[in-house]
Order: sequence, then structure tokens, then C-alpha cells
Amino acid sequence: MKKQNKTILAVIYCLCILFLCACAKEQREADDKAQVGVAYYNKSDTFLNQLIDRLKEQFDRLSAKDIEITVTIRDAAGSQRTQDDQVKELLDAGCDVLCVNLVDRADPSEIIDLARERDVPIIFFNREPVAEDMMQWDKLYYVGADARQSGLMQGELAADYIRQNKKADRNKDGKIQYVVLEGEAGHQDAIIRTEHAIAALKSKGIKLEKLSCRIANWNRAQAQNRMMQMISQHKNSIELVLANNDDMALGALDAYKKLNVTEAVLPVFFGIDGTDIGLKAVEEKQLAATVYNDKEGQAAAIAELAVSLVFKKGMDNIQFTKEKYIYLPYFKVTSENVKTFY
Ligand code: BGC
Repeated sequence: MKKQNKTILAVIYCLCILFLCACAKEQREADDKAQVGVAYYNKSDTFLNQLIDRLKEQFDRLSAKDIEITVTIRDAAGSQRTQDDQVKELLDAGCDVLCVNLVDRADPSEIIDLARERDVPIIFFNREPVAEDMMQWDKLYYVGADARQSGLMQGELAADYIRQNKKADRNKDGKIQYVVLEGEAGHQDAIIRTEHAIAALKSKGIKLEKLSCRIANWNRAQAQNRMMQMISQHKNSIELVLANNDDMALGALDAYKKLNVTEAVLPVFFGIDGTDIGLKAVEEKQLAATVYNDKEGQAAAIAELAVSLVFKKGMDNIQFTKEKYIYLPYFKVTSENVKTFY
């Protein structure tokens, strides 16, 4: 009887060990998995599309190591309401972290409330929420770039070009007649880029005369259309086009191509982003220069932060500005160094 009891105890002991091992394994496997939800404002945006591609690559890279990352991506097609619903759906599906490119950067409250209820951190990117909204909760982060820097660099590139190419002042009046194509109203990168580009040109001693400024919402077709209007208003007097992004600079160029004007009346065009087509246009000297918006760096920063937040490790290695912001630097791109950006 005594012996039988011992055997039963031994079996129970073994079963307990097996059970604990199984639990530990399950725990380990579960700990190595992360579900990431990505919501972005519009797939028709050239820069965003390329940034999202780089982001997928970054998650794949991290996933190939010893963790398994599942990424679900949703395009809001320009509607904040759609994005709010998509975020709810991503959270209901059990995502552990959200990467959100807001449609309306002034309206993140619904998304923040939904995420906070489930304690899921949010990394906003590219479209920066206002500072008060970023203070709503301590699990909100932002990855992007400093708009002022891109504007200053664009202005410096334009000033250097004008100094080196006296022909840029086509009517030789000692001033550069310019127009601006601006991004979406209310976007942190729009007005700030314009203001700083102009400030840099002026501080480098270039005399300017502003002819017009039109909003073209980051969009090539809209920029072409606005440029047509400005050309019909100012005829051949436009010497410089400053665009808040490459797509709009290329749209401006499209307008001139459509009008089939001679090279002698073409202004010089400057963009920002260094998208694939933007870089190609710089290489072919259709755009005089652009400023590289480091999508690879931003994608890597988003993915690494997301993984650190889910697995609660590695946060000490991340360099934050004001504890929640990561800003990647811009770079100047001319036909001389463009090849290094491919
Ligand atoms: C880019 C634009 C893009 C916009 C979208 C900006 O930083 O320069 O090309 O359309 O972000 O939010």
C-alpha cells in the first residue's frame, strides 16, 4: 500500500513537471509574438506609399530574428472616420501596438481613447499630432522629421543654385520672381517648410519677389493644375518654383511640359522628399535639387520602437526628444550626390 502511494505521488509529480514545462513553453512562444496594426491616411500619397513599403521591410527584418511579427495595414483613403473604425478593428483583432499616420493630425482623440482602454501604445508617424494631444497619455510616441530643417535646406540649395547660375535671374532685374506650391493646409510640414525656405534664401542674400502661392495638397495632378493657373497669370515671369514636396514640383514641371514651352522660359524647380521619381528627376536635372526625407530611417525607428514597446525591452537604447519624439534628419540632394540615395 505504502509503495503504491509512492508510485501515485511520483506520477503526480511527473505530471506536474510536464504541465509546468508545457506552460513555460507556451509562455515563451506567446512572448515571442507581436501583432502590429498600421493605419495610414492615404495610399495615393507617393511618399507615404514608399514609407509603408520600407516599414514592412523593417518588420520583416526584425521578424526574421527570433520573434514573430504579424503586421496588418489599413488605408483610410483620406477619411478620419474610416481610420477610427479601422483602428477599432485592429484593436479588436488583438494588436499589441499601433502605428498611426493620422488623416487629421488635429483629431486623434478617438484613437487615443480606444487604445488607452486596452492599454495598447501608439506610435504616430509623419503627420504629427499637436503637443497637447501627445500629452494625453504616456504611451504615445511620434516618429518623423523636423519640418524647419527641410525648409532651410531647400532654401539653401536654391540660394546656392541661383548664385552659381546667373541665368536663373532670367530678366536680370537682380531679383528672383518665385511661386510656391504648398502641401495640405494644417499639415506641420507645409507652411513651416515654405517659411524656412524663404528665410534661408533671404539670409543668403538672394533678393526675392513673390508672385503667387497655391495649395496643391501634396498632389502632382493638383500641382499641375495650380501651376497652369499661375502661368496664365504671370506668363513667362516665373523664375523659381519652390514646392513643399517632389510630387508637386513634378506637377509644376508637367504644366510647362504640357504647354510645350522652350527651355529658355523654364523656371528652376525644387522639391522635398527624394521619392524614387523625385531622385530620378534630380539625376536628370529636371528638378534642380531636393531634400531627402529619410523614409528608411523613419521606418527603422518606428519598427524598433514598436518591438521595444511590445516586448518591454530596449527602450533605454532609444534616443528620444522630450521622452516621446524621434526626429530623423533630412539631407540635401543634388545631381552630384543623388546616386548615393538609391
Ligand atoms: C511629405 C509629403 C507627404 C506628406 C504626407 C510629408 O512629410 O513630404 O510628400 O505627402 O508628408 O503626410
